[in-house]
Amino acid sequence: MFQYFFNVRAGGAVLNTLSSVLVFPIDMAQSVAFAVTARELGLKVIMATSDIMESAKRSEDVVHLPYITDPKFNDAFICLLKRERITQVFTPHATIWSYFQSLSQDDGFSVKFKVCNESPIAMDKKPFDVAYEWAESCIFGLNMSAEELAAPLSPHLYANLHLAFNRIPGQSDDCKLSLLAHIARQSLQGDVIEIGSYYGRSAFALAWLAKWHNLGTVICIDPWKAESSRDQGIAAKLVNQAGEELDWDQVFLGFIASVGSFHNVNYIRNSSMLALSEYRLAASAGLIQSDEFGATPVCGSISILHIDGNHKYEEIKQDILAWVPLVKKGGWVLVDDYLWAFGDGPKQAGDELLQERAIKTAFVAGDTLCIQL
Ligand SMILES: C[S@@+](CC[C@H](N)C(=O)[O-])C[C@H]1O[C@@H](n2cnc3c(N)ncnc32)[C@H](O)[C@@H]1O
Repeated sequence: MFQYFFNVRAGGAVLNTLSSVLVFPIDMAQSVAFAVTARELGLKVIMATSDIMESAKRSEDVVHLPYITDPKFNDAFICLLKRERITQVFTPHATIWSYFQSLSQDDGFSVKFKVCNESPIAMDKKPFDVAYEWAESCIFGLNMSAEELAAPLSPHLYANLHLAFNRIPGQSDDCKLSLLAHIARQSLQGDVIEIGSYYGRSAFALAWLAKWHNLGTVICIDPWKAESSRDQGIAAKLVNQAGEELDWDQVFLGFIASVGSFHNVNYIRNSSMLALSEYRLAASAGLIQSDEFGATPVCGSISILHIDGNHKYEEIKQDILAWVPLVKKGGWVLVDDYLWAFGDGPKQAGDELLQERAIKTAFVAGDTLCIQL
């Protein structure tokens, strides 16, 4: 999205209060997203479509233009450009983009305008290029011990993981994804526990990796409630407030949709401390059950524990004291946000864990403390 705006500037024409930007055809998802942001930035936005149904439905604010193949198109387009003082045009449609590009460079065309976005063909290709680039770096990049390292997956599979991961809202980044991909290659079989799943971004990565490396069930623990994130420490004032603005039932539904296609996922909708007894019960029954995921096996011994819940020192300390004893020898404990801009709870609790437990390996990757027991 922001790329589009950089291009508005790079295009050279300045949008002022008198000029406007045309978004055409408005009945494409990228057009709607652009129009909303452009309006939020205070730009005057003219929305147009050739779809008769669409323009009839939204007749108040959508202008009708003929199809670009219609001989009447150019005249109607010129009229609209002049009437609305349009200097920039945004279109995510590849054919229309090429047509507009040629009109904008045609000295014989009577009105001057610029196409303000990059070619849709280039835009469509970009996430795939980035995904394959990440896949290569994931296979060759992270310098971890080769001891007991399973073979990497193919670049195509890693590209698939990257594309899907980045479509889910969340705070885990590409560096975290590389880390999880490498940890999965050094992991034993066992339960994968995530404390704090939000929309399911890191949960998706864990489920995907656990599936391809045959690790075990991923159990996501999160109350999906505002109360749990209300107090993450004094320095986290801004983070505490952000949680209040969320519709947590909608976030929970988002989580279900994000990981819903996996057979190796389940969840406990509770805080990490209350979830412990539910996990123990599930382990003794050998399975965990939910309406959305059905019954999933639980072994009671943890191969990866990802701690990314409430970041207040006392909360993480509790998570560590309660859950780390269930991690098997050779298993991994990941403390997210060990390096955090909004407080030092994860660092303090992580450092204490390093001092108190016998540890095989420990390192920091990105902002995450990784400990192999
Ligand atoms: C930083 S977000 C997690 C981000 C997620 N791992 C991702 O990849 O996007 C923190 C999550 O922890 C949850 N949370 C807060 N307190 C918790 C607790 N006591 N137990 C479990 N989850 C908790 C919040 O509801 C929120 O969804």
